[in-house]
This record gives sequence, structure tokens and C-alpha cells, in this order.
Amino acid sequence: MTADEECGERRGRLDGRRVLLVVAGGIAAYKAAELVRKLRGEGAEVRVAATAGALRFVGVATFQALSGHRVRHDLWDEEAEAAMGHIELARWAEIVVAAPASAHLLARFAHGLADDLPTTLVLASEAPLLLVPAMNRVMWLHPATQANVAHLRARGVTVLEPDVGEQACGEHGPGRLPEPALIVERVQALLAPGPGERFSADLLAGRRVVVSAGPTREPLDEVRYIGNRSSGRMGYAVATAALRAGAEVVVVSGPVGLPPPEGVRVRRVETALEMREAVLDEVRAADVFMAVAAVADYRPARRAAGKPAKTAGGLRLELVPNPDIVAEVAALDPRPFVVGFAAEADDLEAHCRNKLERKGLDMIAGNLVGPGRGFDVEDNTLHVFWAGGEVRLGPGAKTALARDLVALVARRLAERRRR
Ligand code: CTP
Repeated sequence: MTADEECGERRGRLDGRRVLLVVAGGIAAYKAAELVRKLRGEGAEVRVAATAGALRFVGVATFQALSGHRVRHDLWDEEAEAAMGHIELARWAEIVVAAPASAHLLARFAHGLADDLPTTLVLASEAPLLLVPAMNRVMWLHPATQANVAHLRARGVTVLEPDVGEQACGEHGPGRLPEPALIVERVQALLAPGPGERFSADLLAGRRVVVSAGPTREPLDEVRYIGNRSSGRMGYAVATAALRAGAEVVVVSGPVGLPPPEGVRVRRVETALEMREAVLDEVRAADVFMAVAAVADYRPARRAAGKPAKTAGGLRLELVPNPDIVAEVAALDPRPFVVGFAAEADDLEAHCRNKLERKGLDMIAGNLVGPGRGFDVEDNTLHVFWAGGEVRLGPGAKTALARDLVALVARRLAERRRR
């Protein structure tokens, strides 16, 4: 029980948060009624959008009574549209939850269809999407459904695994809707920090924060190098946010074309080995290490003198692995609170959770990269994971994401110290 609860002022975990619940046709639709009740019990505002199939299982009156709002199901309902247009409703949502999500609904989301109100709302919304599938086990295990799920996950959508057990159709296997209490927990985890957890100027007062930023350059000779496209913007934004949160901040920075943030001490380095040395030196007295740098995984085994001229044949390079700086910091004892970053082309959650574990990190911030995403762009989305938790930040400018991330780190750091 929290102090608030003891004082009789129980505040729901989702106070004032705006949840759009999409309900698809399936016998588990009746459990969506319980989900609405639980979400509202935690203080959330809930609007329900049902597919035509869903309303064959549960009537509009049930959802209406439980949510306190008209149930939306028809894209062409003039009266409902006049009250809140579907685009407005899509913008209103802070999170969209589809529970139960039928095989057909998953397929329509995967392919970006917008042939009814729920699918149109999902396509018109920038909010995080949580899909909670429930269906017959053969439909769930069908390669078409599994391919749709993989495709959705690769796009950053969270798809829960259905529970295994007795099914309404009499079969036994995976396909049951997970417990509404568990769905509520995931909703809470996926929502960006609420107003109570926002950034403030004293969040990291008295703390020392070290940030690695930018690319590294791994020299082939005295002129040429192997490098990457990291601009250093995210690292510099994180350093600035930590400074604004009251911390003393050091950035160990690879070569970037950005001005150093005022008030932050910058240590300039070129190679991964130089970055490692500077970071290990600085983190000894640090409370937090945030590894935002895009460190080259390999360096040329040899560095030639001068600038060797090209020869007629090709050139074979021998590369050797660089040390993993963030993993080394995480292995120190005592060690600071360690935050890693990961840029992934697909399956963000699996890769991030794997790196969190493998590198011994306290937290990892992942983002999907691909054409027009991630490197060298202003706007981004971060999906942050730690043992037992996750949250999605953005989409937003890197400066805004950096502030949300710093607020999150400050909270986790405070929780860790309290234990
Ligand atoms: N990192 C590090 N030292 C390295 C390599 C990476 O400190 N030699 C840190 C980065 O700063 C970042 C995280 O580790 O915080 C990224 O992990 P990494 O394993 O390099 O992931 P990616 O480069 O995203 O991908 P992959 O390993 O899958 O190539």
C-alpha cells in the first residue's frame, strides 16, 4: 500500500490517461467488458470502438454503461462523428489497445487496411498500439497469423502472447485472452511518463552523469578511417537534459559537428579505444553512465603510416573487435546506473531485452532504424526496457525524448537507492 492509499486518497495508476479500446469479434469479447471496468478502476478514461463482429458477442449497452461513453462502431455514423470525429478520436488516444484482437484484425492492421472504424482509427493514430490476440489455437499458430504478428512487432507494435489453456471451442492450446489485470499492467508500462513523473530542474541534483556520444573513427592510416553516420545529436541532447536536471555532466564525444552544450564538460576522442579509456576514467566517480555513442564494433588490425597510395588490385582489411565499453562499465564494482542504447532494424523488444541481459545494463533505450528513421533525423521514438518494465517515449524531437529519458533514469535511480 502506498502512502497515498493509507491516507485514503488512492490514486489510480492510470489517472486521467486516455485509452482507446478496440474490440474485435470473438468469444473473448465478453472479457473486454471486464477490461473496461479495470481500466476505469485505475482512473483511465476509456472509449470503445467495436468491430461489427464484436457487437454480435457483446451489445453496445454493456460497453456504453461501463465506459460512460457511446460505443463507436460505424465510420458513417453522422451523429457520433459530429460529437467527436474519428480523426479527433484517434488523436485523443494516448494508447490504443485491441483486446481481443482477432486473426482478421491482426491481418488488417499488418497490411494497413482501413475498411471500418477500428482499423481507420488505428491508422490515423500515432499513439502506441498494444494488441492482445485471442483466437482458436490453429488460427493463432497458422503461418499467416504468425507472419502478421512478426511484421507488426518489427514495426514496433507490442503484441502480447495469448495464454495457453482450454478454449471456448473445446480445444487446448495457445489462444486465450490474457487476464485483464495483466493487460492493464502492460497499458501502464507502455504509456509515456505521466505528469507526476515529468522533468524538473532538481531531478539529478548532486549527481554526476557521464554520457558517451557520437561516432568513433577507426583509422586505416593517417588520413583514412572507418566511421559511421551517428551525428551525436541524441548524446548531446541527453547531456543537455541531464544538465538541466541538475547533474554535473561530462560528455565523452567522438568527432561531431555540434557545438558543445554550455555547462557540460566535453572530452573529445576519436577511436573506440580512446573512448573506452576516457569513459573508464570518468565513470569512477559517476552515478549514471549513458552510452549513446555509436561505437565501431571493429577496428583495423594495423594502422599504416602516412597515406599509402592505391594499388591496381583490391584491398583486404583485417579487422579486430573493439572492447564493449558499456558492458565493461556495467561489470565494474561499484558501478554507476548504466543505460545502453540500441538501434535495431526489426524486433526491437527481443533485441533490446537480449542486450539488457547480455551487457548487464540497468536500462536500454531502443529505436528502430531504417529509411528515414534513427540516424541523422530530428524526430524519433524510443522504446525503453528494464527488468520488469518498459515504456515508449515519443515520437518527438530528440531534445524532448532526452528529457523524458532523463526523468525516467532519475526515477529508476531513486527507486534503486531506496531498495
Ligand atoms: N557500445 C559500447 N561499446 C561498443 C559497442 C557498443 O559501449 N564497443 C554501446 C553503445 O554505446 C550502445 C550499445 O552498446 O549503448 C549498443 O550495443 P551494440 O551491441 O553495439 O548494438 P548495436 O550496434 O545497436 O547492434 P549490434 O550489436 O546488433 O550490431
